Amino acid sequence: MKALDLAIDDARARYTEANPNSSAADENAERWLPGGNTRTVLHFDPFPLTMASGNGAEVTDLDGHRYIDFVGEYSAGLFGHSDERIKQAVRQGLDFGIVMGAPTEHERRLAALLCERYPGIDRVRFCNSGTEANIWALTTARMITGRTRFLAFNGAYHGGFLKFPKGHHALNVPFDFVLADYNDVEGAEATIRQHAGELAAVIVEPILGAGGNISGSQAFMEMLRNVTREMGILLIFDEVKTGRMGPAGMQGLLDIRPDLTTLGKFIGGGLPIGAFGGSADLMALYNPKNPDHWNHAGTFNNDVCTMMAGCVAVGEVYTPQRAQAFLESSEAFRQSLNELFSSRDVPMYANGLGSIIAVHFSNRPTLRSTQITAGCQALRPLLHMELLLQGVSICSRGDFFLSLPMTEAHFEQTRNVLDNFIGRYRKLIIEVLEA
Ligand SMILES: Cc1ncc(COP(=O)(O)O)c(C=O)c1O
Repeated sequence: MKALDLAIDDARARYTEANPNSSAADENAERWLPGGNTRTVLHFDPFPLTMASGNGAEVTDLDGHRYIDFVGEYSAGLFGHSDERIKQAVRQGLDFGIVMGAPTEHERRLAALLCERYPGIDRVRFCNSGTEANIWALTTARMITGRTRFLAFNGAYHGGFLKFPKGHHALNVPFDFVLADYNDVEGAEATIRQHAGELAAVIVEPILGAGGNISGSQAFMEMLRNVTREMGILLIFDEVKTGRMGPAGMQGLLDIRPDLTTLGKFIGGGLPIGAFGGSADLMALYNPKNPDHWNHAGTFNNDVCTMMAGCVAVGEVYTPQRAQAFLESSEAFRQSLNELFSSRDVPMYANGLGSIIAVHFSNRPTLRSTQITAGCQALRPLLHMELLLQGVSICSRGDFFLSLPMTEAHFEQTRNVLDNFIGRYRKLIIEVLEA
């Protein structure tokens, strides 16, 4: 739509003018990195901001502008940028000795913390990313069941090689996936039953993240648990993002015990990490004291600084009590956004749960990714640019990830910025959605 294109062009022109240093830095980086970038999700037009520093829940760019940081490192930034206890743990890690090439007490302590916390995890193994954790979980399921197919959901993101934005993706690992629709209780059940004899595992995000922060309904998640159990298929909960939800992740809130759970993001206190775990029986297959064990490798699986930061992050900062309180305060913020949108009678909705939010251009909650309209997608760059221009940094696709150092003042400022956005564009938003 022409009016929307003009509005986005105008916002981008103001953004370019305001950010000469980031613009130049981006251009220079093209000499060494394709498009100046090493992580596609961080690119947006006309160029991303280059960040110079971070403090608490705020970041400062190369041109000296400060932002409330709702990118939140796509949820890994739960602790913000400068938590003193985590910084101290990393310093202690450096003093302890890095690249030890042997077990240390730190991975054992972090393992204990995670096993005590998540009902689906009796034993755990570490790796370096959420992507890796999911590949380990899938291959574990394949080895256990002797089957080679998996079922995943349209719109799911389980990592750089495991994504299904619009069906299968050319860059995915060459695993054999059957796809079903998220939150489609009958349809997904029928697909699982149809392929039951071939399926090693069903892998699911309890909140469909990149697909729009859509919460899996209780009925949907229970169906997955019941049908997979009945058919001898393993159920994998990808809690890489949702592990932060309440005291025991979404499996705790839903009261559903998956066979395998994958974790990442916050559990390393902001340092690179992944983990996969399950019942003691199942994970015993990785026990090297057993002559037939499977070999699980990774040079940095027990990296000292990560493990020490993780122990403090999970054991001291983000305790189960803190996680519960954070869920409640973030959920109150999400609700306050929806109160704002409805009081301004604008078709916007803060989807998700607690600290994992995506703002959609719609009057109602989005329950399926197929409900995300072309108009909603077309409006996202405008929201993103205008919020940046007013000091609020969100993901370009409309996600807001809350962090622990955020205060009521940050929330109030964000509501004011959104209120300004609505004041300026309400009519255009309605026109775009009705076109
Ligand atoms: C649900 C989910 N699973 C897996 C991953 C992959 O994690 P990583 O980026 O650490 O490889 C992500 C990353 O965003 C994710 O959101």
